[in-house]
Amino acid sequence: MLQVRVKPGVEDKIRGFFPWVYKPEVTGYSKQPKKGDLVVVRDAKGGFLGYGYINPHANISIRILSFKKEEEINIELIRRRLKEAIEYRKRLNLDSDAYRLVHSEGDFLPGLIVDLYGDYVVVEFTTYGMNRLREWVLPALVEFLKPKGVYEKVSEYASSVEGLEQRGEVVYGHVPEEVVIREGDLRFYVNILEGQKTGFFLDQRRARRLLRDMVKPGDECLDLFCHTGAFALHMKKAGAGRVTAVDTSKGALRVGKKNAELNHIRGIEWVEEDVFDFLRVLRRARKSFDIVVIDPPSFAKNRFAVEGALRGYKELLLTSLKVTKPGGYLAVYSCSFHVTREHLLQVLLEASKDVKRQVRIVAESFQDLDHPWVLQMPNTLYLKGIYAEVR
Ligand SMILES: C[S@@+](CC[C@H](N)C(=O)[O-])C[C@H]1O[C@@H](n2cnc3c(N)ncnc32)[C@H](O)[C@@H]1O
Repeated sequence: MLQVRVKPGVEDKIRGFFPWVYKPEVTGYSKQPKKGDLVVVRDAKGGFLGYGYINPHANISIRILSFKKEEEINIELIRRRLKEAIEYRKRLNLDSDAYRLVHSEGDFLPGLIVDLYGDYVVVEFTTYGMNRLREWVLPALVEFLKPKGVYEKVSEYASSVEGLEQRGEVVYGHVPEEVVIREGDLRFYVNILEGQKTGFFLDQRRARRLLRDMVKPGDECLDLFCHTGAFALHMKKAGAGRVTAVDTSKGALRVGKKNAELNHIRGIEWVEEDVFDFLRVLRRARKSFDIVVIDPPSFAKNRFAVEGALRGYKELLLTSLKVTKPGGYLAVYSCSFHVTREHLLQVLLEASKDVKRQVRIVAESFQDLDHPWVLQMPNTLYLKGIYAEVR
């Protein structure tokens, strides 16, 4: 196997189980690597650090799959990791037939995301190296899960970072355009072929459950960045009165309306508009709500974008606080690792001072249990939610 040496000092973080080696940290190879080659990572003195795969062109050059000398990367290792991921989900009480089965580094399979939607599997390769292992991954998933169909995709983002060709195709059985999944007492259409991410924001399941506990019968609720209406439907099911759900995506709203029909839910107003503009409209009309949910897309894909992202949050929070009734709740989320919980709290603190509204934090949430994160790798904890009572 190809050998890679890293700079003196880099071994410390790897021995502490941090699984990424950045391009400038590599000092030499036993021979010129190709994208996706399996490698042995060694310290400056030649000591063993781990087994991984390499993409010499990417900023994150090496992702380590095993820190144990006796645990080489082979088909058995991949199958074992997949089995462990499946076993872990079996013990969770997710109350849904849709969940994340493999959460990349969170399941010690960097570059691999597998989501299960009932009888259908969506596999996303996010790195060149994991894509090279697809012949080990896909047959194992079919054997272990016995799905009706498997859809494989490479996102535009992964393609730009890793140089993989962007794609989306059915690679096993049949996958219908829309699949119906269950989450608690609700059912949702998921558009696997055309939807955002792998089709549904599974990571917010716990947050939706938590928010239901905060709804009083008749509450007027605002679901900003609603996508296909998961928060809106859960709030309505918990007894909310008028619910307003806002998103710019026509496709997501179309599915949202179908979701409401599927669950025999009436009383959700679907608004196709930019949230920033819509909040200004609400403010001018002096409308206010008992519960306001702000679940935006990732405003910061890297650390250089954090400042701009925080300006966006500040603007959202300033107006959202104003449209929250006294005693009402505001829930705000960040799905970017770079925009931390501390950032959210700081921006909320500043905004509350500016609009002269006292705020009390009543809860916090993180990505749900099927998206485990690794202590040694803080990047794997990406989703945070703050729940504030606005006085
Ligand atoms: C993280 S998702 C929300 C997920 C949703 N809460 C759920 O549980 O399914 C973010 C959504 O924001 C929408 N979006 C992005 N920018 C927007 C904007 N400026 N105004 C309104 N919606 C926007 C996207 O179309 C996407 O549906």
